[in-house]
This record gives sequence, structure tokens and C-alpha cells, in this order.
Amino acid sequence: MNQFLWGVATSSYQIEGAANEDGRGQSIWDTFCKVPGKVANFDNGDIACDHYHRYKEDLDLMKWMGVKAYRFSVAWPRVIPNGFGKINEMGLDFYDRLIDSLLEREIVPWLTMYHWDLPEALQLRGGWNNREIVEWFGEYAEVLTSRFGDRVKNWMTLNEPLCSAWLGHLYGDMAPGIKDLQTALNVSHNLLMSHGLACQVIRSNVSEANVGIVINVTPAVPATESQEDSNAAQLVDGFDNRWFLDPVFGRTYPADVIDALGASPEIHSGDMKLIAQDLDFLGVNFYFRQTVAADQNSKPLPIKSVNRENVQRTAMNWEVHPQAFEEILLRISKEYSPKAIYITENGSAWNDEVINDEIIDDERIDYLARHLDAMKSAKSQGAPILGYFAWSFLDNFEWAYGYEKRFGLIYVDYKTQIRTPKKSAFYYRQLLLNGPA
Ligand code: FCB
Repeated sequence: MNQFLWGVATSSYQIEGAANEDGRGQSIWDTFCKVPGKVANFDNGDIACDHYHRYKEDLDLMKWMGVKAYRFSVAWPRVIPNGFGKINEMGLDFYDRLIDSLLEREIVPWLTMYHWDLPEALQLRGGWNNREIVEWFGEYAEVLTSRFGDRVKNWMTLNEPLCSAWLGHLYGDMAPGIKDLQTALNVSHNLLMSHGLACQVIRSNVSEANVGIVINVTPAVPATESQEDSNAAQLVDGFDNRWFLDPVFGRTYPADVIDALGASPEIHSGDMKLIAQDLDFLGVNFYFRQTVAADQNSKPLPIKSVNRENVQRTAMNWEVHPQAFEEILLRISKEYSPKAIYITENGSAWNDEVINDEIIDDERIDYLARHLDAMKSAKSQGAPILGYFAWSFLDNFEWAYGYEKRFGLIYVDYKTQIRTPKKSAFYYRQLLLNGPA
């Protein structure tokens, strides 16, 4: 794996802080955090890891770790506070400084345009449920590519459209906290169209661009061997995985899911073509596998999730199952033939403890090592995997879980903002210095 790209990943709202500084507009997450009961401990991203001010120290740590690439996201409300129209130069300046500081340290920037922090001003106009958002996103993409395209070549349009669509608009667990099936379906469609248009903008503004989208894949396995449970797993796979992969790779939305839902997004002619852009790579985020069973009383799909017993689980209660990672990488390669795959996120949360200034996170190391093995095995069987970004570089604001769940290789003391590399950071560093075994 000589040319293999090793990196770390973060996202804007989870680390930047400086929520009310230098002209940043409000995002739907600022609003969501103010709704009682939505985010653990009433936490919010006002300060987070204060990365906005401490980015140089953070990039020095990255350099120490030996990473070759950094995946970060731009906060749309920081650069266009109202979502469209007036640009906030101070916001763009921050990302200029960040990108230049990365390049100075010979770390390659990998830029995600959207990692969930939609400008609140756009939400007030319907947000992702308003078809006009495709144009707004296109305008945002113009701003980013024309400003950074000389230095940034690796572009990801969206992070995990599933979470924006299903968690944000069907289950209501994430911003903007809506619970409506038809809205969620239209949102998924508008997200994917925005991805399509943004790809075109990147191609026309950035020479030698490397363009992709980041999709989270969660394998679904049946709780029992019954035909009903097996059908349920098939349906969940359709709703969580194929729903996003199929259209991006030139197919329609999965018919079995539309059938089971009895609903479909509002699709206009030409939409599917816009979504199906030629991609240089697929970004894959993988964390766990899910076990499901049939449940005729459940809506919108006749399924339920089942808590499998006697399995290892992370602090998120997510099942650890590296083999499922290997299998889904092989399946994606075979069924969709992406030109390249980058693992854009993979990692785990544990109840880290600081003892004598040390964080001995052996479970995280074990998770990492086993998932890297699974990835290598998929690669050796032909999956075109070219890189791996560990989630996450730093402990950060874990959305509805607030600061309770720590995914970082670097520990953050939120009171003092002191960063301490965990044992896993040393492990990752050693791996990158020696090259993988
Ligand atoms: C992913 C998100 C990322 C982080 C990890 C744990 O779904 O993309 O921001 O929350 O999960």
C-alpha cells in the first residue's frame, strides 16, 4: 500500500466553535441545540474545540501524527451567512488560512462542502425541502471552487445524505428535527440533485479535480433465518444504502423501497440524469452493522431494529463487526464499480479516561486495527480502495450526543482546550511512519 493515502477527518460544526464571530451566520444546528431535550446536556457548538482559533496547533499535531491528508468541511453559514447572496470575506479568509497552513505542512486538503450545518436562513425558506436549494447549493459551490480551487483538488459534495434526510426529516433526531416521510423523501432527492449540480460546478472551476460524495453504508442483517426477517433486512438495506447509492450510480430509486413506503420523492424529468454524475471516487463511511426483524405494525417500513446479544458494542451502542465492513466494500465494488473508494470515516467512541495524563484506549486501537485488516482484505480482493481517514482527529461535538461521546485519536479537555494524544494516536502514528504491516 505504498501510495495509500492516510488521513484524519473532522467537520466544521463539530470542532470550529467561534459560532458568533467574524460574521458567521446561524446554522440549523445552532437552532436545534436550543430546543430542550434534543441534544444531550443541552450542549452546543458555540465553542466546541475552538479549532477556529487553534487550527495551527491542531495542524501541528496532525503533522506529528504523520497524516498525509485532512478531510474537513466548510461551514456554509460562515461563508454565505444567509445561504445565498452576500459573501462573508472573513469566513473565506479562515479557510484560506487553514488550507495554506495545511499545504505548508504538506498535508493535502480534502474538502467536504456540506456536513450538516445548513444556514438557518435557508431553513426558514424550507431548507432541503425547497427545490430551489439546488440553485443555492450551486451558488455556494461556485463560491468555494472559485476561491479554493487553485489549492484544493479533492472535493466531496455531501457528507452522509442519509443523515440529513432520514435523521433530520423523518426521525427528527438531528437538525432541523422534522418528522415527515414525504418531506424526508423530497429532501433526499434535493440533496442528491444538489450533489449533481455541485459536481458540474467543481469540474468547470477546478483543474484536475478529484470529485466524490460521501455515503454512509450500514449493512443490515436479519435477526432470524425466517423469510420475513430476511425481507426486512433487504428493505432496510434498500432504505439506508441503495436509496443513495443507486441514483448516484445512474439507477432509479429502489423500487422495492418505494413500493413498501407507498411514497416517492417528487421527481422531474432530467433529475436522475443530474444526480448521476461521473465520479472520480466514492467516499465510504462505515461504523457498524444493524440487525433487523419484520414488524408489520411499524411505519413507514414494516421493520424494527433488534438488539443482538453477546456482541461487542462501542459507547454508542453500535455493534463492532469488521467483517461486515469487508463484505460491504466488496459488494459496493462489484455492484457499482466506483473508479476509486476512499474510506472517508471510520472510528469508534469509548468511555475514555484520563489517568496520570494518559488515555489508554486499547478498545479504540483494537477497533481500528481490525477494521484496517478488513479494509486491506477487501482491497486485496480487488476493491479499489485508495485511502483511509480515521474519524476523528479530535474528540468533538457528537451531534445529538453532545460532548459525551468521544471519537478522537486526540483527547480534548473542553474546559482548558488542552489536547492530549491518546494511545490510539501513537498507534496510528506508528502505523503511518512504518507503513502498514
Ligand atoms: C458520522 C458523521 C460524523 C460523526 C460520526 C461519528 O455519521 O458523519 O460527523 O458524527 O458519524
